Formats: sequence, C-alpha cells, structure tokens
Amino acid sequence: MGILEISHVTKSFGSNRVIKDLSFSVPEHAVFGFIGQNGAGKTTTMKMVLGLLKADSGEIYVNGEKVSFGQTATNRFIGYLPDVPEFYGFMTPREYLAMCGQITGMFPDKVKEKSTELLKLVGLEGVNKQIRNFSRGMKQRMGIAQALLNSPKLLICDEPTSALDPIGRKEILDILYSVREHTTVIFSTHILSDMERICDRVAFIHDGNIALNGTLDEIKGIRKGEGIEIDFMHKKDAAFFLQNYSSGVLSEETRIVLKKQSEDDIIEIMRFLSQKNIAVRRLERLEPGLEDLFLEVVKG
Ligand SMILES: Nc1ncnc2c1ncn2[C@@H]1O[C@H](COP(=O)(O)OP(=O)(O)O)[C@@H](O)[C@H]1O
Ligand SMILES: [Mg+2]
Repeated sequence: MGILEISHVTKSFGSNRVIKDLSFSVPEHAVFGFIGQNGAGKTTTMKMVLGLLKADSGEIYVNGEKVSFGQTATNRFIGYLPDVPEFYGFMTPREYLAMCGQITGMFPDKVKEKSTELLKLVGLEGVNKQIRNFSRGMKQRMGIAQALLNSPKLLICDEPTSALDPIGRKEILDILYSVREHTTVIFSTHILSDMERICDRVAFIHDGNIALNGTLDEIKGIRKGEGIEIDFMHKKDAAFFLQNYSSGVLSEETRIVLKKQSEDDIIEIMRFLSQKNIAVRRLERLEPGLEDLFLEVVKG
C-alpha cells in the first residue's frame, strides 16, 4: 500500500462534476508529480486528501489510515504548502517557525533545532527580516520549511513553482528533490518541464479522471518506437526509397515517416540505404516529448 491511496473519488460543486472517478496510488519516497491544466481539479483533490473538502464518494487513505472530512488525524503524517501560503507578515522566519511548533505541541528545543536545519535547507538561514518583505520565491521556501517542521511522511505542495521566475523555480525544485529521502513529495503543476526535472512518478488529471499514470520512463515509453523518420539528402532518393523499400508516408519532399519500426527494422533500413549508396541527412526514431503526450491526452 502506498503512502497515499485514492480510490474512486468523486466530487461535484453544484452541477459541476470536477472529479469523476479518481484513483491513484503514491508509493513512499517518490517525488510524485500531479499534473493538469488550470481548473482540472488538482487543488480540489489535495484538499480532499487533507480532509478540508468532503468527497461525494470514494475513499482516501494516508499511511494506511482512512481520511475523514473535518478530521485532522491523518494530517499528522502530512506537511502542506497551499497554492497561496499565508503567513503572519510581521514575524521573522524563526519566530514564525517557533509559533508553528508551539501550536503543534513540539518541544521548544526541538523546534529550535529543526528550524536551524530547515532554514538552512531552504536557504533562509540568517534571514532576519519580516516575512512581509519576502519575495514570492522566499515565501514559497518559507512555506516548505513550515510544512516540513513536523517531519511529515508526506509533503504536499500545491503549484509551488507556478508564480516564480526560472531561478526561483529551480530553487524550489532542488529543495523538493533533496527532501525525498525523508519524505514522499507530491507536487501539483501545469508546467511539464518542472515535473520532468524531478519526478519519479506522475499522474495526469484530465476531465475528472487520471488520464496517464506511471513512472516518468513508462509514460515517455508509451509511444517509444512509434515511428522512424528519414530525412533524405535528395528528393529523388526519397522517391526511390518509397518505391523500392517501403510504403511510408512522404511528409515533406525529402522526409519519410515509417510507422512502428523495431530496432531490427532500423538496421535493415540502414543496410538498404548503404547498399543503394543513398545518403541521408537524418534517421530518427520518433519519441514524442511529454508536451506532445499531454496535448494528446487533453485533446482526447
Ligand atoms: N469552492 C468551490 N466552489 C465551486 N467551484 C469550485 C470550488 N473550488 C473549485 N471549484 C471548481 O472546480 C474546478 C477545479 O478547480 P481546482 O481544483 O482549483 O483546479 P486546479 O487546482 O487543477 O487548477 C474548477 O472548475 C473550479 O472552478
Ligand atoms: Mg489549483
């Protein structure tokens, strides 16, 4: 059983069926990317995991315990960074963490020790200014430190990089990647490149369901070997190839796309080309990027 199990969850707001039949599992110590367009239901799902929103049906388990709406018991396993974190702006990072520790019943010595460790982790060590004067990136990093204060088994971050510039995004991604040995990380995003950078596993949410789910390698491999594209040096060679070797599709004057070709087929093609003294500009196995897959999923 994974650290998080979502099983046949549904959720509507009025007549808007946002989550139709959502099931997925997050194994421990993964960096898990939860990806979907704006409005796909990522925040809604996270809030149901936290017991802040009531699912209409289905079940959610965190660390093997069932989540009940309005009950916070399972949240002792979770650190949460909301999409727009709120702080007491007049506090410094240390003061803020001290207050959070106090609320959650941690021993003051433990809070101090943990604060030092976490502020170092998020690059806010020695920052003594009030949080209200922080940049967006600093606030997100502060939020991660806060979410990790209780050493949660599961860290849930809602679009932690979306409002940041490339450097700020990289800082957050590096932090999330670095904590994966101690905690399972789930983060939502609509930015594919962020996900591709640090995730072991991903789930695409689309139209209220999980459209794709698996390791990054599995997902990228879905259409691996889908085709081969040959770009010939000369138009006449492309025509000759089509007549004498294979009935591929001529995509442009010098380019041919052949469907579903194995490694043996590639060798066979190269042998044919060399026997006929045909030079090519490029011979490539087509592997769609995540961007293509995502568009395909979204288009249905
Ligand atoms: N409290 C709410 N009341 C009514 N509709 C909501 C509420 N929260 C979210 N929605 C709707 O549910 C859908 C999913 O929203 P959300 O979970 O915030 O998506 P995401 O986080 O993937 O961008 C959207 O159509 C949104 O308008
Ligand atoms: Mg959201």
